[in-house]
Formats: sequence, structure tokens, C-alpha cells
Amino acid sequence: MERIPESGTLKMYELASRLEAEGKTVYHFEVGQPDFPTPPNIVEAAIQALKDGETRYTSSRGIPTLLDAIQDHYSKRGIEINGQSDVIVTPGAKMALFQGVLSTIDAGDDVLLLAPAWPTYRVMIRISGAKPRDVPTQPGYELDEEALKAHISKSVSALVINSPNNPSGGLLAKEQMKLILDLAMDHDFVIFSDEIYESLVYDGLKQASMLEVDPSMERTLVVSGFSKSYSMTGWRLGYAVGNQETIGNMVRIQQNTTSCASSFVQHAGVEALTGDQSRVEAMRAAFESRRNRIVQLLEEMEGVHCVNPRGAFYAFPDFSSFGLSCGTLAELILKKTGVTTVPGDAFGKAYNRHLRFSYATSLQVIEEGLGLLSEYLPSLR
Ligand SMILES: Cc1ncc(COP(=O)(O)O)c(C=O)c1O
Repeated sequence: MERIPESGTLKMYELASRLEAEGKTVYHFEVGQPDFPTPPNIVEAAIQALKDGETRYTSSRGIPTLLDAIQDHYSKRGIEINGQSDVIVTPGAKMALFQGVLSTIDAGDDVLLLAPAWPTYRVMIRISGAKPRDVPTQPGYELDEEALKAHISKSVSALVINSPNNPSGGLLAKEQMKLILDLAMDHDFVIFSDEIYESLVYDGLKQASMLEVDPSMERTLVVSGFSKSYSMTGWRLGYAVGNQETIGNMVRIQQNTTSCASSFVQHAGVEALTGDQSRVEAMRAAFESRRNRIVQLLEEMEGVHCVNPRGAFYAFPDFSSFGLSCGTLAELILKKTGVTTVPGDAFGKAYNRHLRFSYATSLQVIEEGLGLLSEYLPSLR
């Protein structure tokens, strides 16, 4: 437990709850989950599965119909996998990642992360006894090829990538993924590619998958799930796609830990992937217009710089010009305006002048919260 740090965001949550209990209005920009309800056809499918008695353990890999649906999901993108042997369904993408880490990494290994990176990766890596190592990216959060090469050593056994990225919204291009794969081949490490935000991409761009770049999956484990694309965070449903050896090892872990993802939830997952997709596009479009507005409002604030996120639902602006640490800044902003953010250093030490804003909230909250922030910021100079 000594290797697991306390959550850096806990203080913010506690402070926000205290303010709310005192009757103050709090604008929640810290939450990492879509604010939309789960589409009704998915809810109905879960209810029907319960009525049909789908309430027992399933195969630890997942129910065959869901494994097939995941295969078809990729096939529509021109990616051919064998659902029955290359996929494991898990209670959330988090569990898929954790099983991947446990089955692949040894204690004492180094695992590289392209920073800024979701804090959970570091914790999982530490639990496995390995050491997380941040690789800096360029100022616009673009891959820094030279920095990556400089961090590779014999003790590196894995690299975590996340595209679209939490917290930056950055996307890795196919060519960049190819370059990463070449390095993995030359230096014998595996790639964990977290693609959970795959459907949330803007400006007409398309998300590239590591599965397109490494179709044999010799080096790659892709993790994805239903939480973000289908607004199903509380259902806990995710999956991993990889080579048969890695997936087989993960199945052995799952058999002896969670057993399987909930049976009726897996049936709902089949409906999510095979049913009407119009709500997925509607949610994506709503996030895109919120992205446009929040970036515009942030960029209008003097001394604030925000790189345009191309995916996911986070903005990660730089507040360096105020000369305050992100923790102090986040706390002052929360106390004075009610706007709750996540201090940037949670995503990498280099980001201690950044704040993460989730725009998984209404345009009204964005207008009001950022309006108050823009009135308050000049007083910090
Ligand atoms: C980058 C990233 N990966 C994975 C997850 C977790 O996904 P799930 O809800 O499927 O466990 C999150 C949730 O915040 C995330 O931001």
C-alpha cells in the first residue's frame, strides 16, 4: 500500500462537497463521465435479460454473442479479429487494463507513459511492483519521438498509450502508432493502447487503432469499453483485444478474481454494439459543440492557453502565467467561484501549472462556470 499514493483529487472533492453542503452553487468540471442517460434500447435489453433469467455466471471470457459483437464492431472499421479467441470481456476497461498489466509486467520493470497520462495507469503499474516512467510530449501534447527513444532501456517492458487522451484530448496518428510499434519490436516491449474514447473524436477526424497498425497483436493489447461511448459508466463493462496468449492469461486472472462481467450487463452490451447507433453520434456531436465553446471561453481569458482537444471530453489549459501551483490555483478557484477542476499534476509532475476541465456537462454550466472564472482570474494577478 505504501506504493499507492492518495488520490490528489480527493481534497477537491471534499472541498466541493463541503461548499455544496453549505448551500453554495458548485460547477462540476471534475467529473470524468458523460452526463447523458444510457440510451433506452440498452436499458431495455438489460431488463429483458434479467426477465429471461440471465443472472448466472458466464464464461470468464464473456458471452459468445458479445464476443461476436465486438468482432463485428472492429470488422466495420476494417479490422479483422477473432472475437472468440482474441477478446476478453471485463467489468469495465479499468479491469481489462489491470489484468493486462498483471499478466504482462514483472516487478522491477519500467513502464513508460506518454505524459500527460491518466493517473490510474501509474497506480496499476505500482501495484504490479513495476515503476511508471513519464515520457514528456511536445508543448501541443504531440508525440516527442526523441524523448521516447531516450527513455527506452533494457528494463522497459511496456508502454501505455491513450488516444484520444485523458486529459489532453490529443490523438495519435496512425504513422505515430507505427513508429511506436517499430520501437516496441526493436526493443522488445509491449504496448497497452487504451482506446476507451474511440467514438469521441471531433473536426471530422477518425481515431486510429493500434489494431490497424499491429494486426497480429504480437506487441499490442487494446483496451476499450462501453462507459464513454454509450454513457454506461456505472454498468461496468469493458474489454481487451490481444493475442491469444495474453488474453488466455487474462482469462486465468479473471477466473480467479471477478469471474466474469455481470451476465445481464453483457446482454445489454450486445444491444449497445448491434442496436441503433444514432445516440452515440448525437452525444459525440453534443460534446463537440461543448468543446468548441469551452475552448473559446478559456482562450479568451488573459494568461490562459488551451490546446484544442481533438477527442475525449476534457480540456487541459495551461495557467503558468499566474505563477501558482495547480493545487493552490484549483483550490482558490473552487472557493471563490464554485468551479471544480482537477489539478494538472495528477496527470504528470510536469503539469503542475495546468488544470483539467471535463466538459461532460451542459452548455449552461459551461457558460455560467467559466463566466465566473473569467471575472475572478484578473484578481489573481
Ligand atoms: C483513459 C481512461 N481509461 C479507462 C477509463 C475507465 O473506463 P471504465 O469505466 O470502462 O473502467 C477511464 C475513465 O475515466 C479513462 O479516462
